[in-house]
Amino acid sequence: MTTWLTLRVKKSIDLSMTVLGIETSCDECSAAVVRDGRDILSNVIATQIELHKPYQGVVPELASRLHTEWISQVVKAAIAQAGLRNEDIDAVAVSNRPGLLGSLLVGVNFAKSFAYALGIPVIGIDHIRAHLYASQIENPLEYPYLGVLVSGGHTVICRVEGYDSIQVLGTTIDDAIGEAFDKVAKFYDLGYPGGVVIDRLSKSGDPMAFLFPGPTLDRGEHPYDMSYSGLKTGVINQLDKFRNGDAQATPENIAASFQRCAVGILMKRVKAALKDTGLKRVSAGGGVAANSLLRSELKALEQGGYTVTFPSLKLCTDNGAMVAGLAYRYLQDGFRDDLRLTASSRVAAFKHAYP
Ligand code: KG4
Ligand code: ZN
Repeated sequence: MTTWLTLRVKKSIDLSMTVLGIETSCDECSAAVVRDGRDILSNVIATQIELHKPYQGVVPELASRLHTEWISQVVKAAIAQAGLRNEDIDAVAVSNRPGLLGSLLVGVNFAKSFAYALGIPVIGIDHIRAHLYASQIENPLEYPYLGVLVSGGHTVICRVEGYDSIQVLGTTIDDAIGEAFDKVAKFYDLGYPGGVVIDRLSKSGDPMAFLFPGPTLDRGEHPYDMSYSGLKTGVINQLDKFRNGDAQATPENIAASFQRCAVGILMKRVKAALKDTGLKRVSAGGGVAANSLLRSELKALEQGGYTVTFPSLKLCTDNGAMVAGLAYRYLQDGFRDDLRLTASSRVAAFKHAYP
């Protein structure tokens, strides 16, 4: 007879806990060991960037195969770097949604096997919430605050009331901001990964060289929504000038002008949301939170009396530490999953109706 543990039993416990966090939602194969939600004992990130470079984008089939090959070594390295043995791990947390399904399943199945072998709890963690939580590990910020989640798959402005309580105020209606960076870089053959390359090129470009159009959204129902497809198309429409050697259309000028607009679209909504909600604290997360212009524009909000935090660069990208850090909070509150835990490519949570 099969006996399943009760799903997500709510009981208050307060124990010291060493959590192994596993992250395989896209092209980073990562494992980290975090003690008591704060001390990052190790955070190993094995990136597949070089292997996807020839395709200028993540190839899902390749990503999941590489995770399958790498995962055990990555977990082993994380535990060894933490100076621990498998038996010292109290719980396993794994990103189980959203992301590339095949990639997520590798992490989920590894996490369940690890938990089963050691007789310890396993818990599935929402990757997006983990990005939003990442800065809390290093710089705890009092709730509530305005959350700015910017990654390759999501662009969300939200009111964060607690680690599990997020109210979406605005989101992209088409491309995610990171996706726009990646696609522009791909069309201009600037290099891969696009966000990092555009950020670097922008430093020596003129951000006013091109004035790209901003989104024209109906501002009625969802005033903080964003759109990136128009900007992306506007930039790509300059491709002929670039190919014909127009003096203005250098990679640096294109990159800087695009980046100014992309960050501008977001910052306009962030500022409006801060004003309308009266929130005095802001925290960003996700891969695009590594962007130097976005970081400086968010930091500049401090001059207006706001408190601003974002994760260190290593915690912006996909990583196991953010998963373990957030899992600690759930585990402390008595939540856990059982061995039926599975993965989902989609996120149901980030709809405007979300409580
Ligand atoms: O959070 P992340 O590592 O994976 C997802 O969950 O999507 O974010 C990846 C995204 C990619 O679109 C990448 O181009 C972008 O983050 N990115 C950047 C920078 N570093 C990474 N975008 C702009 N500036 C950067 N410095
Ligand atoms: Zn991510």
